[in-house]
Amino acid sequence: MGTRTLPHGRFVTLEGPDGSGKSTQAAWLSEALDGLGWSVVLAREPGGTAVGERIRSILLESRDAQLDPWTDALLFNAARAQNVREVISPALARGSLVVCDRFADSTLAYQGYGSGLDLGTLRRLESVTVAGCRPDLTLLLDLPVEVGLARRSSGPPDGWTRFEAGRAFDRAFHERVRAGFLELAASEPERWRILDASAPADVLAGQLRGLVTGALASWDSGATPPR
Ligand code: TYD
Repeated sequence: MGTRTLPHGRFVTLEGPDGSGKSTQAAWLSEALDGLGWSVVLAREPGGTAVGERIRSILLESRDAQLDPWTDALLFNAARAQNVREVISPALARGSLVVCDRFADSTLAYQGYGSGLDLGTLRRLESVTVAGCRPDLTLLLDLPVEVGLARRSSGPPDGWTRFEAGRAFDRAFHERVRAGFLELAASEPERWRILDASAPADVLAGQLRGLVTGALASWDSGATPPR
């Protein structure tokens, strides 16, 4: 286990449409950083805490339920609030690097751009939920919707989440989500980096490592102050 820390820690999130390979990449990235001696905590959303995992099963497995998009938004925020209080903030306070597989931007992209909820209201909800805990760096694993959905189709349909299998979440929904992520990235270019997730997994992993180790060098030298 790596032990190297930074004052106030640093928070790196991975975002992207379904099928972008984020979860695998987040795990590889945290292993690589740990191998370089850094103290790393890998978190994921929704889930990551005992109560978050229960909320996750309501959200992803209630395939026959017609959940209102506000129910989705509130439950994702509820799981996130617990993740922030129990896992993310304490790890940052210890000076660790936190790598999180999805965070608040997913709610803006999916429930905001995808399901059409008001972005201003979602942002107010977000600020209560995250309590000042915001990513220092966000890596967007972008890929065409048809590529992501085809990757999903190669898995068993009973393994698909509600967002992959539900009727309200069609191709047009996923196109809005992708466009939403790109718009969020364009509006805050200093925080976001966009990567082509249709590249081979090992190539993408190398690019992610390069971006994060580059950012770490600047954080470690004090060139970029913490949030
Ligand atoms: P998950 O199995 O974690 O998929 P992935 O590996 O693609 O992250 O399922 C998460 C699903 O929930 C995914 O379809 C995106 C969706 N989601 C939201 O709609 N809003 C959110 O705030 C979050 C965190 C996820």
